[in-house]
Amino acid sequence: MCGIVGYVGFRNATDVLMEGLKRLEYRGYDSAGVAVKVGGRLEVLKKAGKLSVLGEVLKDEQLPGHFGIGHTRWATHGAPNDPNAHPHTTEDGQIAVIHNGIIENYLPLKEGLLARGHRFTSETDSEVLAHLIEEKYDALADSPGRLVEAVRRVLQEVYGAYALVVAHQDHEEIVVARTVSPLVIGLGEGESFVASDVPALLPYTRRVIFLHDGDMAVVSRAGVEVTDLRGNPVEREVVEVDWSLEAAEKGGHPHYMLKEIYEQPRVLENTLGGRLHEEHANVELDLNLDPARYDRVHVIACGTAYYAGWVGKYLIESLARIPVEIDVASEYRYRDPVVDGRTLAVAISQSGETIDTLEALREAKRKGAGTLGVINAKGSSITREVDDTLYIHAGPEIGVASTKAYMAMLGAMAMLAVWLGRARGTLAEADAKEFLGELRKLPRLVEQALEQRAHVAHIAEKYHQAADYLFLGRHIQAPTAYEGALKLKEISYIHAEAYPAGEMKHGPIALIDERLPVVVLTTDSPFYEKTLSNIQEVRARGGRVIAVATEGDSEARRFAQDVIYVPRTHHLLAPVVSVVPLQLLAYETAVLLGRDVDQPRNLAKSVTVE
Ligand code: F6R
Repeated sequence: MCGIVGYVGFRNATDVLMEGLKRLEYRGYDSAGVAVKVGGRLEVLKKAGKLSVLGEVLKDEQLPGHFGIGHTRWATHGAPNDPNAHPHTTEDGQIAVIHNGIIENYLPLKEGLLARGHRFTSETDSEVLAHLIEEKYDALADSPGRLVEAVRRVLQEVYGAYALVVAHQDHEEIVVARTVSPLVIGLGEGESFVASDVPALLPYTRRVIFLHDGDMAVVSRAGVEVTDLRGNPVEREVVEVDWSLEAAEKGGHPHYMLKEIYEQPRVLENTLGGRLHEEHANVELDLNLDPARYDRVHVIACGTAYYAGWVGKYLIESLARIPVEIDVASEYRYRDPVVDGRTLAVAISQSGETIDTLEALREAKRKGAGTLGVINAKGSSITREVDDTLYIHAGPEIGVASTKAYMAMLGAMAMLAVWLGRARGTLAEADAKEFLGELRKLPRLVEQALEQRAHVAHIAEKYHQAADYLFLGRHIQAPTAYEGALKLKEISYIHAEAYPAGEMKHGPIALIDERLPVVVLTTDSPFYEKTLSNIQEVRARGGRVIAVATEGDSEARRFAQDVIYVPRTHHLLAPVVSVVPLQLLAYETAVLLGRDVDQPRNLAKSVTVE
C-alpha cells in the first residue's frame, strides 16, 4: 500500500525512481511524486493521477541528479490531489519526506506546529513529519549525524504505522525508518536503493536487507547502517532474492493479471515441487512445528487469502480430522477468540504484510497459540513473527487482483492437510498416496483448464452488460464461488454475490430473474446431485445458469445455458481447477467493459492500514 523508492548513487535518479515506481504502482495509484537533488536543492514534482501523469510532466521538466526519493500513493488522509501527494517538504524546501502508513496522533502534533508558526500545504498526516524533523534538525545545530538524530527524536513523539523516507538537501544520505509498513534496502556497488517492495530493485540488484519493525537506517552510496530507534547498531542479514526480472514483467501479455493467470501451472509446480513424496505417502514441508501438539487450527487471512484458508478448512478437517476455525483477520482479533497452547494459528498472506492478518496473528500468539505463516513474500513481516513459514513460491504477484498466489495457497493448504493427517494417523497410507498422485497431476490439469479461455470469453461477451451476478457452490466449492464473485467485482465493478448453494433458497433466490447470470460450481463430488437441484431451482425462476462442471458431465448441459468444463480431479482439489475459468471470466468481462484490469479503482495490493 503506497510505493516508495529512494536512490543515491551515480545513475540518473529520476529514471531509477520512475522505473521503480512503475514496478510498485500496484501498491497505490492515485497520485505520485519525486524529489531529486538538482544543483544542491531538492526539486519536487508531484501530481494527482496515475504515475503516467507525472511521467508526462517529467518529459518537459527534467530533474538531473543522482539522489532522490519517489512515491506512488494510495490515499488515507486527504483527497488524491497535487498538494496531498508525496513528497512533503518544509516551507524552505530543504527537507523532503515520504511516508506510508498512518500517524495516529498527527492532529495534536499539527496543532502544536501551527501554533509555533508552521504553515501546511496538505491535509495529510504525513506532512507533520517534515515540520517536526525541521524543528529538531534546527535545534541540533551542527552536531554530527544531525539528520538521523532529528528523525530519531521525531519518532519518539509519533505513534502509528510508518515507512518513512527523509531527504535533506545538505546530506547525501537517505534516512529511513519503519514500523509496520515495509521497507527494503537494495545494495549496489557505489549506489544504494530504498523501496517498499523488491520488484522496484530487481533491475539493479538482488542483494537486499529487509528492515524490521523499529529499525532505522542511513542509506548512502557506501551502503547502509541500521540501528534501532535509540541509535544502537543492529545487524540485519543481507538476503539474495531469487525473483527474476522477467517474473516481475508482463512478458508480452496485455496485463499482469493475464500473465499471472497463465503462470499458474508453473507456479503450482513450484509450490508442490520437491515436497510430494508418494513413496513415503507423505509431504516434506521442512517445518519445525510438532503436529502432535495441536488439536485445533485457527486460519486467519483476508480477501482472496481468506478464501484459500476456507478451502484449507475442508482439506484439513477431511484429511486430518482437526477442527478448523476460519476468520477474516480483521474480525478475529476483536472477537476474543478461545485460544490455548494446543491451537495452531495459520496466517495466510501473499504479501506477508497485511496489517489485519499480522495483528490477528499477534493476538493468537499472545494467547499462546503456535503460529505458522503460509506466505509468498520472503522476509516479509509475518514470516518474522511466526514460529515457522510454509512458503508458497508463487513469485512476484503484481496484478492487484490475486490469482496465482491463490492457486499456490491452495496447493500449500492441501500439503499442510496431508502433513497433519499423516502425523495424526487420520490419513491412511493408501489414501495419502492416491491424494498425492492427484496433487502431482494438478499443474497439467490447470493447464487444461486454461484452454477454455476462448469459450469463457464468449460467455463473458454474452453477459458483460449484466448489473449483477450470483455465484453458488457447495462444501469445498463454496469458497470458490466467493473467490469468483470477488474477482468479478474487483476488476469489472459488476456487483456480484456468492452463497453456499444450499443457502440460496433461504433468501437470495428472491433476486433471480432472467437478467441474473448465476454461476454454479457443480463439479463432481458427493454433493453433485444436491447442486444440480439448486441449478434447477434457478432455472425454474428464469435465471441464466453458467455451470462449471467436470469434463464428461452431460447432465449439467441439460440444465444450464452455458457449461464450462474443467478436468476431473479429486473432489477436494476441484477448487484448484475450477477457479481458473472464474478468473478468466472476471478478466474477459473487465476487458470488455474497458476497466483498468491491473489497477482497479480504489484498491491497492498489500494493505498495510487497518
Ligand atoms: C483480491 C486480493 C485481496 C488480498 C487481500 C490479502 O484479489 O488481492 O483480497 O487477497 O488483501 O492480501 P495478502 O494475501 O497479501 O495478505
